[in-house]
Formats: sequence, C-alpha cells, structure tokens
Amino acid sequence: MSTERADTLYPTRRLRPSKISIVGAGAVGTALAYACVIKGVARDVVLYDIAKDRVEAEALDIAHGIQFTPVGSIVGSDDVEAMRDSDMIIITAGPKQKPGQSRLELAGATAAMLEKMIPSLLNVAPDALYLMVTNPVDVATYIALKISGLPRTQIFGSGTVLDTSRLRYLVSQATGVAVRNIHAYIAGEHGDSEVALWSCAEIGNVPVSRWGATADGRPFDDEIRSDIAHQVVRSAYTIIDGKGATNYAIGLAASNIINAALRDEERVLTISTLLDGWAGISGVCMAAPTIVGIEGAGRVLEPPMTLDEREALSASALALRHVTADLGY
Ligand code: 2OP
Repeated sequence: MSTERADTLYPTRRLRPSKISIVGAGAVGTALAYACVIKGVARDVVLYDIAKDRVEAEALDIAHGIQFTPVGSIVGSDDVEAMRDSDMIIITAGPKQKPGQSRLELAGATAAMLEKMIPSLLNVAPDALYLMVTNPVDVATYIALKISGLPRTQIFGSGTVLDTSRLRYLVSQATGVAVRNIHAYIAGEHGDSEVALWSCAEIGNVPVSRWGATADGRPFDDEIRSDIAHQVVRSAYTIIDGKGATNYAIGLAASNIINAALRDEERVLTISTLLDGWAGISGVCMAAPTIVGIEGAGRVLEPPMTLDEREALSASALALRHVTADLGY
C-alpha cells in the first residue's frame, strides 16, 4: 500500500514494519539474530557491533538464508544510526564469562560499558523497549534503568527465562512429559542464588509434590528435585567449560521475550524487572513471573510460595543489591 493511500485510509494510524536492533555480534548476539530471523519476530533486524567487518559478515551470512525464513531483513553495522527508531533494542555485548567465573564477577566491566552505551542508544531510540541480556543481567538491568531514567516497563532483562527453560527441560526428561506441559519457574538472580519455585510447580495440572514416579520408576521426590535445581544452576558453567560460551538457548529465550513484546502476547515470563514489594522485595531487579506485552514489563505475579522459597529469594535480592551498591548505584 502506498504511503499516500495509507495516510488517506488511516490518517491517524502509522503502519510501519517492526524493527529490532541487537547490540553485540558475539556468540549470544549472533545466535539471537539467527533465532529472530528464523522465527520472523521482526520485519527488520539490525545487528550492531564496533567490529565493522565482523558484524557485516555475521549479518550477511544470515541474510543469505532469508529465502528459507519468513520475509524479513538483517543488516550488520558499526554505526549507531542504523538502530534509529528501533521498536526494541537488545543488549548482548559485554565481558565474556570465563570457565569457573561467576556472572557477578563481570559487574564492574558491564557497568562501565553501559555508562557509555546507554546514552548513545537513547539518542537514536528513546521510545524503544530495551531488553538486557548482558551478564550479570539483573545488575545490568538495574544499572541501565538508573542511567536511562526510563520506567521499569521499558527496560527489563532476560532474567531467568533461560533457567526456567532449563528447569522445564530437566523435569520433562525426568518424567517423560512434554516440556510444554511442565509449569515451573526459576526466580531470583540469573545466577548462583536463583530459586526453583517447586511449591507452585505443576506437571499438567498435577502438583509436582503429588507426581509419583519418574519415567524410570524412581519417586520424583525432594532429592530428585534438588538435583534438578542444582543442574540448572550449574548448566552455564558446564557448557562454558565444554565450548567456551552458551549461546543457542539464550538466543531462543531472548527471541521468545521479543516475540511476546512485539506481538503483544501478554506472556508470563520470568524476566528481570524492577521489583516493588514482590515477595516482600523492593529496589532491585531480579526475575519474577511477569506479564510481557507491547508495554514491555507489565504486572508481576506472586504465586503462593513457601517461607523457605521467600527467604531464598530475599537472599538472592541481597546478593544483587550488594553488587549494585558496591558499584555506586
Ligand atoms: C547462561 O546462563 C551464560 O548467562 C548465560 O547460559
């Protein structure tokens, strides 16, 4: 439809193709770009990095496959201007977690990077939704909120969407039930202090406490559940030891968050968001079941939790607050 015709037919409505920009053409940024193009989460994808040759090559390598994907486009650029008027900007750039290194140890370098990056992004896309993926993602989300002055709805992090996916995968493997029918959340820090909310977890509509036997006949009891929760916490360390980084699943997780926002799906996702009283926790960004739609981070849901779970979440919040306070935020 021509612009004139659109303006005539819809004088007050501005139709234009959706555009997202991914900052960082490293392992995570390129996996995310690839996932977004394959899933068609946006009409146009910009992959940005200061390494011009690298980012242009990464985008071109994906662009050559667009015949096989939903209609869209992807370009690579080292020019911030390329991200102008993005509907959503996803920040994946940052220090790389080394084998055995915790995510929180990356906080200082991440803060320094965001102090420089956030103002230049706001200059080209003040109205975009911002999704932080860079680790430590909860600290990065909090710092980005402080630097930008934007509302909590507009800047949020990937949180434990990936950890929740890992938890559901492991429960599915243990019970033989499809992942889509495993309803369970990881909340808190995307990191060592995260919390599996077993007390409200269900398989189908059956509480996990009443599930009975695993697929190989063992009782799906506290011992198995705590082993699964431990495997979730250790997942990234295991993969980083083996291949140097994680990228595919976090790329899929972040593309899922983008989809929920741009398509206004109102999905419940454990994104990292600024909490204001959730489980008695305020003044920190960490993962909680949150409704994600076109407005970004919406209502935060507080499922029934045990005292132990609430205490573990408070400890997680305290660990994060210590890091942001030590950095002066
Ligand atoms: C992950 O959990 C490293 O935060 C990344 O895979």
